[in-house]
Amino acid sequence: MKVIEKRRSVREYQSREVSDEILNRILEAARLAPSARNRQPWKFIVVRDPKRRRELAEAARNQSFIGKAPVVIVGVALDPNHIMSSGVPAYAVNMGISMEHIALAAQNEGLGTCWIGGFSQEEVKKILGVPDAYKVACLMPMGYPADSQGTRIRKPLEEIICQEQYS
Ligand SMILES: Cc1cc2nc3c(=O)[nH]c(=O)nc-3n(C[C@H](O)[C@H](O)[C@H](O)COP(=O)(O)O)c2cc1C
Repeated sequence: MKVIEKRRSVREYQSREVSDEILNRILEAARLAPSARNRQPWKFIVVRDPKRRRELAEAARNQSFIGKAPVVIVGVALDPNHIMSSGVPAYAVNMGISMEHIALAAQNEGLGTCWIGGFSQEEVKKILGVPDAYKVACLMPMGYPADSQGTRIRKPLEEIICQEQYS
């Protein structure tokens, strides 16, 4: 709960590098994530190259802070057409879980992240050489926080929980 409570979107980073050892622990959290039928239909691209990070920032509606994070992790879904019997696209759920594992594991290491859903699918695929058949689910810049923002307000529990039936 401490990690969950402390996590917040970080949009300003120190230039300090993230060590391979720490990054590997964080990526292990993604590897262990559950997925529909345990298919693990994902790839996580670790982007450290400054030029490539800048290109990603441009492809993400010029959200320049993305280019300033020492690492950007890009989650790619390998089966974007898998719709579960519930009618829900499995990839969105799978990638949501695995990328949030990354965000929480990063928080546990003292690192900040930010979910990025505002980007051009085509441009990001081109920058990273992702095959057309796959879907880039999200970008996640990561680094040691350089801002001092607090956590965001959330709706009260009474507003989002109902008992037994939808109400
Ligand atoms: C699916 C998703 C997409 C998001 N896309 C962006 C984005 O493109 N740019 C951005 O600055 N924040 C983005 N966010 C971050 C949200 O704005 C943020 O999580 C929300 O305001 C709650 O704040 P908190 O993360 O600090 O608790 C995204 C978050 C999610 C979950």
